[in-house]
Amino acid sequence: MLHVFFAPALILALTTPNAFAQGKGDPVAGAEVFKKCEQCHSIGETIKAGNAGPALNGVIGRKSAYEKEFNYSPPMRSARLTWDEPTLARFLKSPKGLIAGTRMLFPGLSSPKDIEDVIAFMGQYDELGRKKQ
Ligand code: HEC
Repeated sequence: MLHVFFAPALILALTTPNAFAQGKGDPVAGAEVFKKCEQCHSIGETIKAGNAGPALNGVIGRKSAYEKEFNYSPPMRSARLTWDEPTLARFLKSPKGLIAGTRMLFPGLSSPKDIEDVIAFMGQYDELGRKKQ
């Protein structure tokens, strides 16, 4: 009678948008990875004042340098990228490798799994910092 227990889990997996919409990363593991970003970036409905970096709400799919009030570096301002998952992955692996002269003083994430997971974590939030259902 094992199927009695597995069927609800399968239905949940099939109806949870994150299971497919956000690539193959694990958002729960990504929350741990995001601790490396938190000293400079906010995500969610509470935006810390005085962060060194822009808030990352709804970042996936947005144009680079989207935060109107943020003082970006000239190379970031003129990069004209779209933060789709492959572009974000390249940036997070090596910020300076993708955008020479970026003001993001972060060496990059060396683990491809950490990159996938943190992208899945960020993908949970819409542009207003609300968790997508
Ligand atoms: C030491 C501070 C710092 C850390 C740590 C840091 N960032 Fe950044 N980040 C910045 C700054 C500053 C910018 C703006 C860069 C520029 O203008 O060149 C930025 C820009 C970005 C952007 C581009 C946003 C846009 O508006 O286009 C993304 C995406 C991003 N960071 C993601 C991350 C992620 C994910 C992490 C953790 C893995 C991280 N950052 C860690 C400081 C940081």
